[in-house]
Amino acid sequence: MGFLPFFSFETWILLISFVFIFVLYGHWTFGVFEKLGIPGPKPMMYWGTVNRYNQVYYLDDNECAKKYGRVWGSYELRRPMLAVMDPEMLKIILVKECFTFFTNRRNFRLNGDLYDAVNVAEDDQWRRIRNHVTPSFTSGRIKEMFSIMQHHSHKLLVRLQSKMDNKEVKVITIKDIFGPYSMDVMANCVFSVDLDSINEPSNPFITHASKILRFPVPLFLFQGCFPIFLPLLELLGLSLFPKSSTTFFRAVVEKIRAERNESSRKNLADILQNFINYQTNKLGKERENQGLNDHEILSQVTMLLFAGYETSATTLAFLAYTLARHPEVMKRLQQEIDLTFPQKGPVQYDGLMQMEYLSSVVDECLRLYPPAARLERMTKETVKVKGITIPKNMIVMIPVYALHRDPELWPDPEEFKPDR
Ligand code: HEM
Repeated sequence: MGFLPFFSFETWILLISFVFIFVLYGHWTFGVFEKLGIPGPKPMMYWGTVNRYNQVYYLDDNECAKKYGRVWGSYELRRPMLAVMDPEMLKIILVKECFTFFTNRRNFRLNGDLYDAVNVAEDDQWRRIRNHVTPSFTSGRIKEMFSIMQHHSHKLLVRLQSKMDNKEVKVITIKDIFGPYSMDVMANCVFSVDLDSINEPSNPFITHASKILRFPVPLFLFQGCFPIFLPLLELLGLSLFPKSSTTFFRAVVEKIRAERNESSRKNLADILQNFINYQTNKLGKERENQGLNDHEILSQVTMLLFAGYETSATTLAFLAYTLARHPEVMKRLQQEIDLTFPQKGPVQYDGLMQMEYLSSVVDECLRLYPPAARLERMTKETVKVKGITIPKNMIVMIPVYALHRDPELWPDPEEFKPDR
């Protein structure tokens, strides 16, 4: 076997087998959409169709929608992912069959301590937790929290004014102000603590909340390319949510909770207290439809903090941006404000709810700049939706950003038109 350089025959066999298996594994999942007759970009080994037409994933979705229509097949690394932006199909997926075939989102498994947060939980556990989270967001409860929002909105105005009055400040990074504002509102509504991070930009709540949704890229790539190792990664305690941040939030909530058990702060009517009031530590079947356990309470409170922080801050930042670019809209909005609250009167909840133009402006802003540019659901069983077979365990991805810019649904999609 002297014609084989360097290695022995056995080593060569091993090497060739390894390369063969590596290449085969990298392609293994591809082809599923061809079989189903669904169009889509051609995948590359391991990489799938990620960033095929654009480096930015939601702009890539936009390009795919232009090329393939409202349904296409893509591969996020090795994972097949069906993109759907057909309105009739979406009604079935998100509404009609939500509780039968499309209850769950994709579960990355590497959720660390947040394994039982409402956005991660599945099936009956999700239903039960969701049933306990929802009552905190009724119009009555939001009305109760309104004075907290007023308090922080006032502080926001003072902060903005002081920036404007400061002649040395030439540019204001608006997210650095709306971010802390959102966090202060969230923390106050969730556990009645006034963080005052708006006046303290280096507040650890802001740094940790900003970090928490930034998945570590190497781990994300590895789990996507080699899902076979997921159980091992779980066993090693690896998590896509930065551990330092989840630990920070958990420690804060635990401390607040412990103090509350001891003191008169029990009477507070915030979201944390809402959970505690319904709490029960019964196990197993008995716990169904009853309260959340200690761990679940901590997870919901942590998750609510950053779920509300990032989305609200981004929305406010884009709202400021669009208003600055459309002075005619700002003027009309100002007129509606003056009409609803004459003589610069205080903003009231009921009046605010009547402001139709404001609502259209916010909706149009969310259409153009949705903070969540994609939604996801997983199929529980193989199911046919509008003639398209969606196999069991397929990720159904809703490209929200591309959907919001579909010219047939939104004529002149790039234009900001609150009156649409
Ligand atoms: C403009 C602000 C917001 C936007 C654009 C937004 C957007 C979203 C989106 C797109 C989802 C996923 C829905 C789905 O998969 O069907 C979601 C879920 C969620 N959001 Fe928000 N959100 C906002 C504000 C908030 C706030 C302030 C809170 C908390 C106080 C919050 C808590 C949640 C929770 C708990 C879920 C998970 C619900 C579940 O799994 O059942 N969001 N949000």
